[in-house]
Amino acid sequence: MKPQNKRLWWERQDLCYQDGTLFFAGKSVTDLLRTTGTPAFFYNGKRMLQNIGRLHKALDQLGAHKIFYAIKANRFAPVLTHIKNGATCGVDVCSPGELLHAFSCGFSCNEISYTANSMTDAELKLLADNPDVALNCDSLSTIRRLAKFCSHRRIGIRVNPAMGIGYRDNETLKYSGDKTTKFGIYREQFDDALQLAEKHNFIVDTIHFHTGCGYLNNQLSLFSEILDATHWFLDKVKDLAFVNLGGGLGVPHDIDDKQLDLDAWVSVINSHFSGKGITICVEPGDYIAKDSGILVLEVNTVEKKRNTDFVGVNGGFNLAIEPTFYGLPCEPVVPTQKIDKMKPVTIVGNINESLDVWKDNFSMPDQIEEGDPLVFINAGGYASSMMSNHCMRGQVSENLLV
Ligand SMILES: Cc1ncc(COP(=O)(O)O)c(C=O)c1O
Repeated sequence: MKPQNKRLWWERQDLCYQDGTLFFAGKSVTDLLRTTGTPAFFYNGKRMLQNIGRLHKALDQLGAHKIFYAIKANRFAPVLTHIKNGATCGVDVCSPGELLHAFSCGFSCNEISYTANSMTDAELKLLADNPDVALNCDSLSTIRRLAKFCSHRRIGIRVNPAMGIGYRDNETLKYSGDKTTKFGIYREQFDDALQLAEKHNFIVDTIHFHTGCGYLNNQLSLFSEILDATHWFLDKVKDLAFVNLGGGLGVPHDIDDKQLDLDAWVSVINSHFSGKGITICVEPGDYIAKDSGILVLEVNTVEKKRNTDFVGVNGGFNLAIEPTFYGLPCEPVVPTQKIDKMKPVTIVGNINESLDVWKDNFSMPDQIEEGDPLVFINAGGYASSMMSNHCMRGQVSENLLV
């Protein structure tokens, strides 16, 4: 039971208890469920716009900048339309499907950045037909094959600075580093990439890199070292107009995390790029979407097996895969605080896989009952967009609250 008047680490104005009842986006979760049932995702549209607004405010200190929301984090059409209508923000897409989806949600070519890998010829033809989409090429093969369909196109080059960053130094969240990865062009091939671009009359105006996901304050010095490593590439590009720093800005996942200090983040960027006449671009996904969403499930099984109290819910890791996939902390929250003693439980889903454990050893009110809802916070990013129909248990509603 939480001590009276003491806020839990994740509580904020639009996600908090009021007289023991959990409110999200101004409505009690219990009320929200009356029309949707469970499993259900709820997204707070206002929170998404606030997250974008906060980023803009920080980036304003740099002068010219662009934000492209990485829709791989959450591509729910009403969310995209809401962002299109409510924010000064483009989108980052990574496949033909995402590109066409962005068009259908109202984004035009010059609001879209495209960074993909292992691209097909058909995909490159689509990009040739849409020359105002900012395309970042991540391999020599991409540049060579793009030339089959166009020339004189402006392109970006995704580079790999051979350094990576990730939430709590999690190797699986790093896109570059000691291990050679598929992402971007390394120093060894960069001159070849520039020559190839020149041969086909492409104008390289952007250097792009995305080196990992989920970084927070204590990794800003590493972030700075990564930016340092990118200068080697930037200095070789004569028509450089944009530097795209990718996404990767993290959000708190448990009590030990603090909100990313955007002023400190911007001052790192500023220390590297100020006075160079370059427009800084970023393409965050999680920072905009993750803390804007919750997933609500229902407890259907409360049972002790040997020494373990299990709480089974009507949704599994297929609905929000990151805790299982990347070992990210997951935070279950009860919608109604019960005046009760607590007991440690193991929360499990409904998928026939041994990995299907939401949370081990989680302290819950002793009176948790079958039929009670259970909320998982931080479910707005990389949950629905990565979900599967494994065991044919992929039915879940998505609901945008505005
Ligand atoms: C190229 C690129 N840009 C942006 C992102 C968004 O990352 P995040 O959601 O961590 O901000 C990703 C994520 O995988 C990515 O691959």
